[in-house]
Amino acid sequence: MKLLEERILSQGQAVNEHILKVDGFINHQVDPLLMGEIGREFARHFRGQGITKVATIESSGIAPAVFTALELSVPLLILKKQPSKVLNTDLYQTQVTSFTKGTSYELTLSQKFVSDQDHVLIIDDFLANGEAATGAIRLLRLAHATIAGLGIVIEKSFQPGRGKLLEQGIHVYSLARIARMGENFIEFVEE
Ligand code: G4P
Repeated sequence: MKLLEERILSQGQAVNEHILKVDGFINHQVDPLLMGEIGREFARHFRGQGITKVATIESSGIAPAVFTALELSVPLLILKKQPSKVLNTDLYQTQVTSFTKGTSYELTLSQKFVSDQDHVLIIDDFLANGEAATGAIRLLRLAHATIAGLGIVIEKSFQPGRGKLLEQGIHVYSLARIARMGENFIEFVEE
């Protein structure tokens, strides 16, 4: 997505060769006009596939996911991060470990909001190692929902996330794919 790539080049900052800072327009201060365009693009790509719900992982996935859900006119499910397992039979939970942040959490979803009738599109801001997305898929499958695909705002294509998801048969659509980055440069994958 040209608009997004231009914004990453003008306002993103590669902190080092692994971490891209986008807190001026995606995950601290949010640009709603850009998010509107992102939602329209995900909806254009995934429309007509019988999607019943959009799901995301709190918190930075919420902005792009809400605009996508709005465009598709379906509810948004926010998968919550709990610090530990909760003994409650009304919840689905699965453990996720973030390599980037060095933390683990229990991804949590109330059983009342998802069923075997749901066909779910997962949206997230970053794809790095694919652990969060894999956890979200595991959680939704506990409810016997089916997965329409994964929409990612920024994919770090030099990390293994995309490969892991493709191996699981998941369709991944990323709006910006970073091939390489470092101090003062960001290069996108040539499509
Ligand atoms: P994975 O899910 O693909 O395996 O990635 P990993 O666990 O390694 O990292 C996940 C967390 O790190 C996510 O935030 C993700 O947004 C963030 N992250 C990964 N790479 C980058 C990066 O280059 N720049 C920025 N700004 N963030 C990155 P989270 O823990 O889910 O927190 P939240 O921000 O959504 O609340």
